[in-house]
Amino acid sequence: MNPLFRTGISLALTLGIVGGFIAQTVAQSNKIQGLVSDKAMVVSAREEASQIGIEIIRQGGNAFDAMMATEMALAVSFPFAGNLGGGGFMVYRMADGRIGSLDYREKAPLAASKDMYLDEEGNVIPRLSTQGALASGVPGTLAGIFEAQAKFGKLKPKQVLQPVIDLARNGFVVTKNQAERLRINRQLFVQVNGPNTFFGKEIKAGELIQNPALANTLERIAKKGRNEFYKGETAKVMVNHLQKIGGIITMADLAQYKAVWRDPIVFPYRNLKIISMAPPSSGGVTLGQILKMLEPYPLRQLGHHSPEYIQVLVEAERRAYADRNYYLGDPDFVQIPVNQLLDSAYLKSRMSDFSFEKASKSADIGKGDIQFSESMETTHYSIVDAEGNAVSVTTTLNGGYGSKVFVEELGFFMNNEMDDFSAKPGIPNMFGLIGAEANSIAPGKRMLSSMTPTIVEKEGKLAMVVGTPGGSTIITAVLQTILNVTEFDMGMQEAVNAPRFHHQWLPDLVNFEPKAFGADLVAQLKSKGYLINEGNSPIIGKVDAIRVLPNGKLEGGADPRGDDKAIGF
Ligand code: GLY
Repeated sequence: MNPLFRTGISLALTLGIVGGFIAQTVAQSNKIQGLVSDKAMVVSAREEASQIGIEIIRQGGNAFDAMMATEMALAVSFPFAGNLGGGGFMVYRMADGRIGSLDYREKAPLAASKDMYLDEEGNVIPRLSTQGALASGVPGTLAGIFEAQAKFGKLKPKQVLQPVIDLARNGFVVTKNQAERLRINRQLFVQVNGPNTFFGKEIKAGELIQNPALANTLERIAKKGRNEFYKGETAKVMVNHLQKIGGIITMADLAQYKAVWRDPIVFPYRNLKIISMAPPSSGGVTLGQILKMLEPYPLRQLGHHSPEYIQVLVEAERRAYADRNYYLGDPDFVQIPVNQLLDSAYLKSRMSDFSFEKASKSADIGKGDIQFSESMETTHYSIVDAEGNAVSVTTTLNGGYGSKVFVEELGFFMNNEMDDFSAKPGIPNMFGLIGAEANSIAPGKRMLSSMTPTIVEKEGKLAMVVGTPGGSTIITAVLQTILNVTEFDMGMQEAVNAPRFHHQWLPDLVNFEPKAFGADLVAQLKSKGYLINEGNSPIIGKVDAIRVLPNGKLEGGADPRGDDKAIGF
C-alpha cells in the first residue's frame, strides 16, 4: 500500500476527523475570527496546556517560562505528542527584535549504527525503527525547556512546574478525540508494554486521567533541575527500563545530551521577514525555498485555491522536497549548502521548466544540482507574552505515543524518532519520505525533521507566530497559513481553518484534505497531468498560530481539526 495512503487512513482515524467541518468553515469564512486578546496569548493542542501557559504569564512569567509550563502540560494532558521522552525545536523573537532558535532534537544513541534497522540481506526490518525500545533517540525535551527558561525566563522552575504537577496529580478529562486515539492504539500499548500498564486499560471520553507517576517525576525535576532527567533517579529508571526491553540508550547517552542554540533561517518574502528553524530541521530551508520560488508569481491574482494557484504551489513544493531529501541532515555531521539552496537565481532556475500547461513529473525533477522522513503526530504551540516576546515551538514523540514504550514508573512515553533517519537511503519511511546519505544513522547524530516553528515580522514588528504537527506536511501547512494571511487577507483563525493541500515530490501525488476541494478543480488538475491521491488523503497539519492585528491586539488561530485552544488576556 502506498505509505501516504496508509498515513492518511491512520491519521484520519487517529484524529477522528470527518471532512464535513472544513466545508462548513469555508462557507462561513468571512465571519470567522479567533479569540482576540489585548496582551498575551497561548495557543496549543489542549485547553489545559494553554491555560497553564497563560497563568504563568499572569503570574509575571514571560514566554520562556510559559514555554516550560505549556510543554510539560502537553506532556501530561496530550500524551499522544506532548512529551518528556521526545524532542523539539523553538524559534523566538524578543520584544526588542532579537531572534534565535533552540534545537532540542533527539540524538541517535552512541551504540547506534548505520545499518541497525536492516536484516542480513540489507532490507529494512519492519517496525524496528517505529515500535519498541530500539526506536527511541536520546530525548531532548527537558534539556530544551530548561535551557530556554534558564537563559530568558523570569520565574523559578519550581513555580513554573507546580501547576503541571497539580494537573498530573489531579487529572484531566479525556476528550472524544483522545479516547478514540487511545482506543486505536491500545492493542499496540499491550503488545509493547504487556497487559497491565497504565494505558493498557480501556479509557473512555469524559473519564479523568490522573498520572501520579508522572506527577512524582515532575516533582523531582522541579526540585533538582534538568540533571534529574539526564543524570538522576529519573535517568536510571529510564535506562533500566529501556535496557530490559532491548533498548540501547545508556546513562552516558543521557549525560552527554545538550540542547543547541542555532542561528535560525531568515529570509524575506515580499514585505515580510520570515524566521524559521534551521537544520537539523528541514522546515526553514524548505519553507524558504518554496516561498522564494513562489515570489515571482502573482498569487493573489491567480486566486485562492484556483487550479493555477494549486499548480504553482505544487510545483514549487515538488522541487523543494527533492532538494530537502537529498541535501539536508544534521549540520554537526554533514555539510549543508544552505546559502546555495536559498539563492534566488538557483531557485528561479529550479522553476524554469514549469509551465501552467502541464504538470511536471517528479521522476524528471530529481534533486537540483547542488532527499528523507517522519510522522504526523507532533504538536505545536505558539506564545506571545505581555511584554511582546514570542516563542514558536514544535515538539514531538514522532509517531502517536512515540515508540509506544511507556515507562510505567516515570509516567511517560518514549519517542520513535529513530524512524526519522533514513534507515536505508532510497527506501521510504512510514510517511513516504525518501532519505539520502546526509540523513543516514550515526552515533550521536540528530535525525532530520520537518518541524517548522516560524515567526513572521512585518515592517520590523512581530506579525505572526505559527507552526503545526503533520510530519512531511508541516512545511506546506505553515506555508499555506502564511500565504492565506499575507496574500489573501484572511484573519488568523480563518487562515488556520482554510482547507489545505500537499505535495512532497515523492510519491508524486497531490493530496487534498478530504471533502474540502471540488470535483471540478480536481478534474482540471488531472487534465493537466497531475496525479491526485483520491484514496484517502492525509489530514494536513493542525496549525496553532497567533497574529498581531493592526491595532496591536492578538488574534489566535486554534485548529478546529483537533481539541486545540487559544487562551489570552
Ligand atoms: N517527527 C516529525 C518531525 O520531526 O518532523
